[in-house]
Amino acid sequence: MPIKLGQIHQWYLYVVGVVLTLSGALWLYFHYFVRIEGEFGPMHHPIEHFLISTHGITAALMMIGLGSVIPGHIVRAWTMRRNLWTGIFMLLTMAVLSVSGYFLYYLGAEGIRDVSAIVHWVVGLALPLVAWVHIQRGFKTRKLSNR
Ligand code: HEM
Ligand code: HEM
Repeated sequence: MPIKLGQIHQWYLYVVGVVLTLSGALWLYFHYFVRIEGEFGPMHHPIEHFLISTHGITAALMMIGLGSVIPGHIVRAWTMRRNLWTGIFMLLTMAVLSVSGYFLYYLGAEGIRDVSAIVHWVVGLALPLVAWVHIQRGFKTRKLSNR
């Protein structure tokens, strides 16, 4: 399996990554900055439910995406030491997001949940930047197109 990802494989990761990030970021905006007038006073916008469930589905799809790049892309690039540092940052970002996402979903304890939430938002909002740098540098370090 080559390091270079196929067209469909790349698009899968880009689309899932964009929907994942947008659903998380929009949820943050609606949850903290938007209230609508309900029968019994101000209430949360109903779109929050749609956003967080979209986020949950795309989070699972991203785990499939992560698994799909391990055997070919990561193992081969790692052996060749190509784009290694930004690749390690990608892996760290994914690891922190999946562990903190797991805590958010399964842990009721307020203290740990609050810390996980902040870590998750900060790293989540940084994901597009980390991915952008990784992809740009990856293209630049390309030496042999078919590996
Ligand atoms: C590998 C990537 C990611 C995974 C596996 C993941 C997973 C999760 C999970 C499981 C939850 C809990 C859902 C629930 O409570 O129903 C969650 C919540 C959330 N995620 Fe993500 N997420 C990822 C990336 C992102 C990104 C890129 C952002 C960008 C801002 C983000 C922002 C959020 C926010 C704002 C919440 C709600 C937090 C709260 O309840 O206070 N996530 N995520
Ligand atoms: C979280 C895991 C990762 C994801 C989702 C990911 C995703 C991507 C994507 C979408 C591209 C641009 C498309 C392409 O060039 O085929 C890319 C390029 C690249 N990545 Fe990763 N990557 C990950 C981890 C790593 C790691 C750990 C390494 C190195 C050890 C690495 C090395 C490279 C290289 C060398 C390129 C340029 C490949 C080329 O010649 O096209 N990646 N990566």
